[in-house]
Amino acid sequence: MLDMLQYEDIDSLYAANLECRACGLRQGCKQVVISRGNPAGRVMLVGEGPGAQEDAQGKVFVGPAGQLLDKILAAAELPPEDVYITNVVKCRPPGNRLPKAEETKRCLPWLERQIDLVAPKLIVCLGALAAQTLISPDLRITRDRGRWSRYRDIDITATFHPAALLRDAKLKRPVWEDFKVIRDYYKRFREE
Ligand code: URA
Repeated sequence: MLDMLQYEDIDSLYAANLECRACGLRQGCKQVVISRGNPAGRVMLVGEGPGAQEDAQGKVFVGPAGQLLDKILAAAELPPEDVYITNVVKCRPPGNRLPKAEETKRCLPWLERQIDLVAPKLIVCLGALAAQTLISPDLRITRDRGRWSRYRDIDITATFHPAALLRDAKLKRPVWEDFKVIRDYYKRFREE
């Protein structure tokens, strides 16, 4: 296993991550897609993995789910300059399938080091994969969304993935309920 502590800043982490070949996903995608937003941002959002548009453009959440996410973030008054967005896996799974457990495991040290270096005040897991990876493997998104816990010493919560909202409009209300709590939490530390 790579020693992640050797990457002391986000740029050196990115440079190494771009060269990663730890699982088979890299063979089937165009590029490693790591993030967008401000690495000094206090709110970190974690999705699943890049889709077709992300793979083409090299940035996370730029396709339809990303456009919806931006609307949600604006409605929740989370300013782009304080938000950092990434995914559990950094390479697009073929046909947008779910990343396999082994792929997630191989990619996890990158995400863990990203969290160390970004050091957000709050992490929002978008969808079950991020929530099960960072909160608990037993988490069920329908049952457990909106609950708060800790990842190391960071407050963390989970809500439905924006792509799920595009498939099922009924999920919009619970997601908005979750983001209202996130908005209020953010307001409390915004002025710090
Ligand atoms: N879905 C994700 O989980 N991440 C992206 O970057 C795009 C779609």
